Amino acid sequence: MSLREIRFHPDPVLRVKCEPVTTFDDDLRQLVRDMAETMYAAPGIGLAAPQIGVTKRIFVIDVRESDPSGEPKLRVFINPEIVRKEGEIVWEEGCLSIPEIHEEVRRAMTVTVKAYDEFGEPFELTGEELLAVAIQHENDHIDGVLFIDHLSPLKRKLAWRRYERLSGRSEAQAQV
Ligand code: NI
Repeated sequence: MSLREIRFHPDPVLRVKCEPVTTFDDDLRQLVRDMAETMYAAPGIGLAAPQIGVTKRIFVIDVRESDPSGEPKLRVFINPEIVRKEGEIVWEEGCLSIPEIHEEVRRAMTVTVKAYDEFGEPFELTGEELLAVAIQHENDHIDGVLFIDHLSPLKRKLAWRRYERLSGRSEAQAQV
């Protein structure tokens, strides 16, 4: 296993609409293990493949931090599809690719997702609250969408300005 380098906004790889996985082989399983290790080391509760520069429809989640006494439970989602959304929840989100910025985002309270695990086995999972938020946040990543995109134009502008100030990374630098 090895830690992968996390990509930060405004790295253009974070804006790519990722491709489906077509081969469930040892290379894929190695990638998934590296993603999990990178997520735990960060530490984070979710990581999508483009965040380590891989433009594939893969993300991993472990939300045990919602219950600190809970056992680690790694969930792997490959070629996921959210098939049902219900209710509404506002959650203060952050992102490993946008360090130090936290903003309230409105999401569905409950989601049902269909996906494959790293062995190509299909599964369906219904999650609520933090798990549902994490699934929606990570699923956005594989379509090139960041949580800041869900804010109102004014709040988004302020968030990016604060991010530039805190991180020294600006939109303008990305275009060079
Ligand atoms: Ni994120």
